[in-house]
Amino acid sequence: MEQLIGDTPGSPGSLEWLAQAYAYPSGAGRWLRANMVASLDGAARLDGLSEGLSSEADKRIFGVLRALCDVVLVGAETVRAEGYRPGRVRAEFAERRAAAGQLPAPVIAVVTRSLELDLSAPLFTEPLVPTVVITTVDAPAGKLARTAERADVITAGTGSVDLPLAVAALTERGWRRQLSEGGPRLLGQLAADGLLDELCLSVAPLVTAGDSPRIVNGPQIPHARPMRLVSLIEEKGFLFTRYLRPTEPDRSPSDPALT
Ligand SMILES: NC(=O)c1ccc[n+]([C@@H]2O[C@H](COP(=O)([O-])OP(=O)(O)OC[C@H]3O[C@@H](n4cnc5c(N)ncnc54)[C@H](OP(=O)(O)O)[C@@H]3O)[C@@H](O)[C@H]2O)c1
Repeated sequence: MEQLIGDTPGSPGSLEWLAQAYAYPSGAGRWLRANMVASLDGAARLDGLSEGLSSEADKRIFGVLRALCDVVLVGAETVRAEGYRPGRVRAEFAERRAAAGQLPAPVIAVVTRSLELDLSAPLFTEPLVPTVVITTVDAPAGKLARTAERADVITAGTGSVDLPLAVAALTERGWRRQLSEGGPRLLGQLAADGLLDELCLSVAPLVTAGDSPRIVNGPQIPHARPMRLVSLIEEKGFLFTRYLRPTEPDRSPSDPALT
């Protein structure tokens, strides 16, 4: 692994080095980062899943980003398609999470209108920390009650989840280091609502064509949002980019509690 842009000290590729390279900015308050993978021609999935676009290094970075965050915000279709499991404890990160006042594993927060979730899956039966379900105020009462037996339910918005409200509710719970793992339709709304502080995009050295959506899928944003490249890592032809919104501080001196 080689960092082509950025100057993270230490041993490239090690967990410690990656934790520094992707440290949440200190003093930034709530920070929402998205982590996605795409092919060279912009596909967000291959044969219906992101797995075919990923690599060992991509999974390593994926794992580190999870280990650094308080909460993973994810759309219900990604949970269903990818068979989401609960966040797990990583021994290598246990001490730093405890020192930073974080729960031992990140909370998984699922955004859904339909509440069509498999409540018998480990995500709801075996989480180390309760899974959060974010839905609408007018969600069907019966389904809502059944979901509330297995998950910590947040309601925000009528008809559709109001994402600024949802993100604020997560922040109020003290979960300010936020990570969205998509999918593309959720990310489209987060981008349109101006909630994305950072995008970590892995670019796979593959050309796929086909009709896969892009990583951000939704109506065009009226004013395209510029982003600023702060880190570029390469391994085996894969590129791992880290872009921040321009108005936010650069990767400021890391909060020791976060690295
Ligand atoms: N390339 C990558 O890095 C990457 C990352 C993640 C996923 N993926 C792929 O992307 C695909 C899934 O992504 P997707 O874009 O189709 O779906 P998604 O964004 O994961 O989920 C969409 C679903 O989330 C819920 N939702 C989203 N916004 C909502 C709102 N404002 N209010 C209420 N509910 C809301 C709805 O759930 P309900 O239907 O339950 O109402 C909606 O159907 C999968 O193929 C997955 O493998 C790729």
